[in-house]
Amino acid sequence: MEEMAREKNIPIVGRQVGSFLYQLAITINAKRIFELGSAFGYSAYWFAKAVGIDGQVYFTDLSKDNILLAKDFIKLVGFEERIHIHFGDGALILDESSGEFDIIFNDIEKEDYPQVIDRAYKKLRIGGLFITDNVLWHGRVISEDKSPATEGVREFTKLLMSHKGFYTTIVPIRDGLSISVKL
Ligand SMILES: C[S@@+](CC[C@H](N)C(=O)[O-])C[C@H]1O[C@@H](n2cnc3c(N)ncnc32)[C@H](O)[C@@H]1O
Repeated sequence: MEEMAREKNIPIVGRQVGSFLYQLAITINAKRIFELGSAFGYSAYWFAKAVGIDGQVYFTDLSKDNILLAKDFIKLVGFEERIHIHFGDGALILDESSGEFDIIFNDIEKEDYPQVIDRAYKKLRIGGLFITDNVLWHGRVISEDKSPATEGVREFTKLLMSHKGFYTTIVPIRDGLSISVKL
């Protein structure tokens, strides 16, 4: 998967973050995980490994090509029973999903980040984790850049850090992960 991501220029969290996501998930004994922006399933693979045979990972993506690739990889690793693939806007699919999640992982278009916070809050269990990738956004967040993506990450971080229902830390590995515990 890492080789394919390099060849096809598909942004994935990479090994260091993947392994850290796995660690976070086993630490809280996560069994239900929802992903917004799964691409071809690399981060979903790490989560699925963590939840084990009786766990569930909800995969969402807007790209049919990515989903086709994901299906092959998921089959290859034998995780068909624990990864549920949904095509469409992850935020809308999250709104419509039932039950609470132990982890919600956000990795969609950066301009759409701010709209995910309250929706994730509603669907997480107390003590569950809302995790978001790319919060350092390659350093652009402290540059003069005013693109919608950079403004989206800035706005997201402000909202998240002041959210009364979450306790948040930004972990500066790779491109920065925000980790928020639902209080
Ligand atoms: C950075 S990639 C995700 C990488 C993946 N989390 C990983 O590390 O393996 C972002 C993906 O989000 C998808 N995407 C963008 N906006 C989305 C949305 N609103 N809902 C679901 N997927 C979305 C894109 O199609 C793209 O595949």
